[in-house]
Amino acid sequence: MPLPSLVEAGFDPAPSIERYNHAQLTVGTTIPADAAVVGILVTGDGPVPSVLGLDRETMAGVGFTGRPRQSLVLPRAEGPTLIAVGIGDPATLTAAILRDSAATFARAAQRFEHLVLDLTGSESLPASVAGLAAVEGITLARYRYDQLKHEPVSPPLRSGTLVTTADRVADTEAGGRRGLVTAEITALARDLENTPPAHLTATRLADVSVRLAAATGLEVEVYDRQAIIAMGLGGVLGVNAGSGEEPRVIKLTYRPDASLGAPAGHLALVGKGIMYDAGGISLKPSDAMHAAMKLDMSGAATILAAMTALHDLGCRTQVTGYLMCTDNMPSGTALRLGDVLTIRGGRTVEVVNADAEGRLVLSDGIVLSTELGVDAIVTIATLTGAAMRTFGTERAALLGTNDDLLDQVERAADATDEKVWQLPMERAYRPLLDSAIADIKNLGGENAGTITAALFLDEFTAGIPFAHIDICGPMMATKDEAWRTVGATGFGARLLAQLAIDFTRPVE
Ligand code: BES
Ligand code: ZN
Ligand code: MN
Repeated sequence: MPLPSLVEAGFDPAPSIERYNHAQLTVGTTIPADAAVVGILVTGDGPVPSVLGLDRETMAGVGFTGRPRQSLVLPRAEGPTLIAVGIGDPATLTAAILRDSAATFARAAQRFEHLVLDLTGSESLPASVAGLAAVEGITLARYRYDQLKHEPVSPPLRSGTLVTTADRVADTEAGGRRGLVTAEITALARDLENTPPAHLTATRLADVSVRLAAATGLEVEVYDRQAIIAMGLGGVLGVNAGSGEEPRVIKLTYRPDASLGAPAGHLALVGKGIMYDAGGISLKPSDAMHAAMKLDMSGAATILAAMTALHDLGCRTQVTGYLMCTDNMPSGTALRLGDVLTIRGGRTVEVVNADAEGRLVLSDGIVLSTELGVDAIVTIATLTGAAMRTFGTERAALLGTNDDLLDQVERAADATDEKVWQLPMERAYRPLLDSAIADIKNLGGENAGTITAALFLDEFTAGIPFAHIDICGPMMATKDEAWRTVGATGFGARLLAQLAIDFTRPVE
């Protein structure tokens, strides 16, 4: 019997996956009298806020110089615990630095459930930006995946209070409210990604999508195995061939309310939803990376999570999401090397490596998107180990065919601090994908793996502006750092929501 029987037989609880926000947000002009802990921003030089009752030399003496990501906890005999939080030079303060500082504060205040952060010192940022970044940093730093633990790892975050001047309260609050939504979708993506593969099969992800879509005003269609056969999604069927679990293709549609005016275009998002990537018969070795392959559905998870926020955030773009879901398992019925699959639309692919499966499922999703006449197609996937070799865990690889669309992705990445870096779509490498017996093969050889994977995907885009985000590196963190927490990072959810909100039809 396949593993999910363990779940169904009651050995494991089925984790609830919801969009949730447990923390209350308040914005005010004074530190509440009952505050237990207060974060105080400290710059890299100049005067130290007098409330700390310490001078710069004293703090420097214990190693605190006001640099970003530094904090110093000051317990006191009376009144709240104060935590000095470094923000560096106020002239070069960015949303990213403030987000990290807020995260540093929330971690230093780990044992407190009610946090107060005084934003004095962050006035070089617009109040809405400061509010958004502070809430994201605090909330994301306190994320924990503890659904399968009997004892919580650390106290939950119950409330956050931001303190600012009277003229900035309204905008700080507006930004903070958006931050609750954007932090919530990152947490949702992390939950989906962190959930073990037997707990979150393709079928279960479809059920979760149906529930979330209903709760957040999205249309949803789920295609099961029979429908996938009828639709001719040969990539999905081929990858699924070795699995005891059925595949699912999940189509999500967001239509902006008529009150928002004419839609700002139609954007397709296609996500790799490999629920577990064993490598098929090209079996992966049993190393730590293999154990992380439950995260191989991160592309699909970030699209689902991002799309649940589009109504809340007043997005004016029509967005269609395709989540391409199956696991990639070895078995007597699995794809063999040398097999040829027919992708939707008729192109044939020779499979020369069963572990290069992501591009097979994505190509079916890309073709489905082209049939809708969308203005742009963006794929997001944990596609190639080569992207992680190139950029490590800080940046995703970005590739594409349209400079305007690539600029839009880069702007969304900058705004959310989900960083990307562009690689070239080097056409000179396209012959590496030539197959002797089919239209194309699924692997381009040893080198430039991230680029040849993107060239493969571009074969199916029918000339529609296309961008591809390879999140293999940043999908996971091995330690808590800034807004990331150990395990799945949810990288991409905030980026995609921002991209959809600011989207304009790409110019050629
Ligand atoms: N899901 C993996 C890529 C991956 C690797 C994601 C490490 C996260 C961490 C993908 O399906 C894969 O197996 N890629 C192979 C391709 C190779 C067989 C051409 C890779 O990159 O090693
Ligand atoms: Zn994979
Ligand atoms: Mn693989």
